[in-house]
Amino acid sequence: MKLRQYLQSLGYGTRREVEALVAEGRITDAEREALYVDDEVGEGAPSRGGHRLPHAAIRFDGEVLDAPPGLLAVLHKPVGVTCSTKDPGRLVYDLLPPRWKARDPIVSPVGRLDKDTSGLLLFTDDGQLLHRLTSPKYHQPKVYRATLAEDLRGNEAALFAAGTLMLEGEHKPLLPAEFEVLGPREARLTLHEGRYHQVRRMFAATGNAVATLHREAIGGLTLEALGLAEGAWRMLTASERAALSASA
Ligand code: URA
Repeated sequence: MKLRQYLQSLGYGTRREVEALVAEGRITDAEREALYVDDEVGEGAPSRGGHRLPHAAIRFDGEVLDAPPGLLAVLHKPVGVTCSTKDPGRLVYDLLPPRWKARDPIVSPVGRLDKDTSGLLLFTDDGQLLHRLTSPKYHQPKVYRATLAEDLRGNEAALFAAGTLMLEGEHKPLLPAEFEVLGPREARLTLHEGRYHQVRRMFAATGNAVATLHREAIGGLTLEALGLAEGAWRMLTASERAALSASA
């Protein structure tokens, strides 16, 4: 791929903007030598003589580029931000590097969390990985902690484990889910599928209402082990990626 196209795909600007950055000498190699829009980018022979620049050799204003394609990041989503690129109000993208939503392919959330739900949210620009992480076939259990508006009814564990619970407006019963009581109005719920507003609708089916909802874990990844403060994000390490695939 040509450097022009590569920088565009990473969100550094339109064709013209990228050409301007290159013309201004702001795109260089590690030795601060200016690069050209037609230089070839790709892993392989690292020498410029061979005209194949590995990602790691390219600099923008002296800084290494944003993550190469195939990124997988995790955000501790706070309450009050939306999983969208353009809703009014605060967006998850406001918490991520600004170029991520200009990338092609875009960096997308892996599934969604409601505006009023906090917790672990993955992001990737890799379509295959996105499919794998959301497909029921590769199943990733999702763990939620909920506080309720009223005391638990006492029948939730049996109801949610039954595999017969039908949500309003749906035709297929929910898969069995694990339920753990944490307090009179607090519980942990592990889901094996992801339907629209699923946790809120499951508690609504018991005549209760969710007051707060937080996703603690996806597969083998827990927010606690990741140690991320609310609103913070980071790339997953190779071993964290492996923990996720191992749990699939
Ligand atoms: N269930 C919900 O109701 N909301 C979420 O954000 C996730 C699961």
